[in-house]
Amino acid sequence: MAFVVTENCIKCKFTDCVDVCPVDCFHEGPNFLVIDPDECIDCTLCEPECPANAIYAEDELPEGQEKFKDLNADLSKQWPTITEVKAALNDADDWNGKPNKFTLLEK
Ligand code: SF4
Ligand code: F3S
Repeated sequence: MAFVVTENCIKCKFTDCVDVCPVDCFHEGPNFLVIDPDECIDCTLCEPECPANAIYAEDELPEGQEKFKDLNADLSKQWPTITEVKAALNDADDWNGKPNKFTLLEK
């Protein structure tokens, strides 16, 4: 099992999750983070830290978010590791909770 970053991270990227991960398994893209499922040890620490409530266990993904499991696995092999918290994206608070952000994902 692993944890998965889902749609509401897009255009927010608060990065609070990065601070608590003991195994540095977050990877960073332009406006989204993903978790490497091969590195995640299911410690659960990141899930409550996300201000956007974007992190779920892979077997508890909300309806419509199932595709993010494979997306995290794929993009984590392409994007660099992020190990330190940084400022959220501009307007992150405005984008938090907006629906249908998937098409805005930048790769
Ligand atoms: Fe890292 Fe733990 Fe979150 Fe997995 S569950 S991504 S190991 S903080
Ligand atoms: Fe994204 Fe939440 Fe982390 S918005 S960067 S999963 S703290």
